[in-house]
Amino acid sequence: MTAVGIDRISFYCPRYSLPLTALAGARGVDAAKYLEGLGQEVMAVPPPDEDTVTMAAAAAQPLLEPPAAERVALLLLATETGVDQSKAAGLFVHGLLKLPARCRVVEVKQACYSGTAALRMACAMVAQDPESQALVIASDIARYTLGSPGEPTQGCGAVAMLVTAQPRLLTVEPHAGLHTEDVMDFWRPNYRQAALVDGKYSTRMYLHTAVQAYQHYTQASGLGLSDIDRFCYHIPFTRMAYKAHTQLAQQDAGPAPGKRELDHAVGHSLTYNRLTGNTYTAALYQGLASLLDTCPDDLGGRRIGLFSYGSGCTGEFFSMRVCKGYRKQLLTQRHRHLLADRTELTFQAYEDILNLRIPEDGLHYEFAPYRTGGFRFAGMQDHKRCYEVVT
Ligand code: COA
Repeated sequence: MTAVGIDRISFYCPRYSLPLTALAGARGVDAAKYLEGLGQEVMAVPPPDEDTVTMAAAAAQPLLEPPAAERVALLLLATETGVDQSKAAGLFVHGLLKLPARCRVVEVKQACYSGTAALRMACAMVAQDPESQALVIASDIARYTLGSPGEPTQGCGAVAMLVTAQPRLLTVEPHAGLHTEDVMDFWRPNYRQAALVDGKYSTRMYLHTAVQAYQHYTQASGLGLSDIDRFCYHIPFTRMAYKAHTQLAQQDAGPAPGKRELDHAVGHSLTYNRLTGNTYTAALYQGLASLLDTCPDDLGGRRIGLFSYGSGCTGEFFSMRVCKGYRKQLLTQRHRHLLADRTELTFQAYEDILNLRIPEDGLHYEFAPYRTGGFRFAGMQDHKRCYEVVT
């Protein structure tokens, strides 16, 4: 069977941020609750001229040096903060990146899980036609009601993955552990900008789904935790990964893992999320990029276990093998620079940005230019979104 998986992975986050100490000060909350209780330090904030499309295009751009772009026959954009009810956000990305016309473009949705569904579908297409390549992008802006318990977990960002045969970074293994239930733990009606969430219930559903999906994975694969070297979990906030790994470790009838064991299993996957907040569909894959970029051990040949969770809910536990020599494929310096070189917002500027609404009257608007990546959401005309390349 042809090995299929991720040849390269690229992460992008907007150029503005809010330290959670500033949010804690403004909301009258002990900062330790955010920094230690939730495990978050900084929130990435999109300026008015960045959205799901511009973040997705900026994440994918470094993967598409010629001739990679010419072979992309599928673009799947996973998001729960799409920009149109009908037109796939990926079509704007397809245009901005000048991808070939002989290409399928589809948007995929199931809360934070859909990046994994997209990755699975991309692997299936490439396995059938190993000459082709697929671009999987997960891009989201996580937004809750201002002042609500979810607010400190907000964030945004995008991850793009080039899926190929004989990948040089990660091979996706076929075994999958699944769990689905129709529940209302987190949702966003079409008329709302911010998600609604039953926060405590959502954390319980996440853990329940992780256990069910992991049990299915062990039955399907015959593998257990001792066969897996590192773990990446969906990260709504970094403490959640510690909670999830503690639960799974006890499934194999072992004792509860200590702090050192937990840090070894999940620590490096959390570095980036701590500095951006939740990126919904991108969070798991941002964790994967973080692990590969920041882990000092050579992970070549090792197995990584991943748990993908989308509220509502669907979860999947699956695994990947890291390729030998994988470090040559990484964009570590770019990722570090993106996180280090951001403009810190005042609390007032943060609230102003979050309270902005896109005009809905169909008139012509041009948005002021802020710091962005290579693409910006330039304005509206006749109810159409206008994007431009930043030169
Ligand atoms: N110092 C250190 N830690 C503190 C603290 C302080 N002063 N005050 C509280 N904490 C800890 C709590 O003990 C808790 O840790 P624990 O869960 O390990 O016990 C943690 O900080 C969070 O505090 P809690 O009171 O439970 O937070 P909350 O009720 O305000 O909200 C969420 C937490 C996760 C429910 C909320 O952020 C949310 O709704 N998030 C969005 C939904 C989400 O992310 N769901 C996850 C599944 S997808």
